[in-house]
Amino acid sequence: MPNPIIIANWKMNCTRAESLEIARAIAGYAGNHNIVVCPPFTVLFPLVQALKNLKLGGQDCSAHEKGAHTGEISASQLKDAGCSYVILGHSERRRNLNEQSELIREKATRALNSGLIPIICVGETAEEKKLGHTLEIIGEQLLSSVPAGANPGNAIIAYEPVWSIGTGVVPKDAEVAQAAEFIVRATKNIPIIYGGSVNGDNAADLLKIKNISGLLVGGASLNPKEFWKIVNSVNVTV
Ligand code: PGA
Repeated sequence: MPNPIIIANWKMNCTRAESLEIARAIAGYAGNHNIVVCPPFTVLFPLVQALKNLKLGGQDCSAHEKGAHTGEISASQLKDAGCSYVILGHSERRRNLNEQSELIREKATRALNSGLIPIICVGETAEEKKLGHTLEIIGEQLLSSVPAGANPGNAIIAYEPVWSIGTGVVPKDAEVAQAAEFIVRATKNIPIIYGGSVNGDNAADLLKIKNISGLLVGGASLNPKEFWKIVNSVNVTV
């Protein structure tokens, strides 16, 4: 597998000082690894100034280009702040802020137009899984969230089962493989990463799953030693 991408989603954590400490540790072992850090907006710029060898991403962007949208951040502002990626449609936003797939598609279009790579998140809830609707839900989310201009060179799909995020419970390899196979076909080969309770012990096995090109890491990315184990697990598979 060519250089898997490991993406850190720090969510709403870290002061400037804490961010710099974690990012310095990560930058220290980043080497040629393909690492992207998605910190809170407030620390993007300090990280850009302090660390030249880390790629950065936003955790969301607006569906609007600019103007009277209090509290929002545009894709072009993220680009201007030094980002090359943006996470969109994370289940915490779909669930807590009621973000619909159509809105996520508009955001992804803005991201593409600004030269950012959108990381579009899809995944089923525990209830949907129990009912056997996993692929149907993923299919609907892909159809409505992925813009027409997305292709294997400019976008990433993150398969994140909602029931796996922050729970310590990870799907079986075969379940991830089945979802990934489905996504590859539906999106005509847009790269897929897996997210949900990734840690230093399970990362290497997750990276071995067919069609999985990287990992989206939440909680474990705030702990530089644990994150190092995840990053280092890439070596096991290449
Ligand atoms: P987790 O979060 O690694 O803490 O489960 C993943 C995510 O929300 O992207």
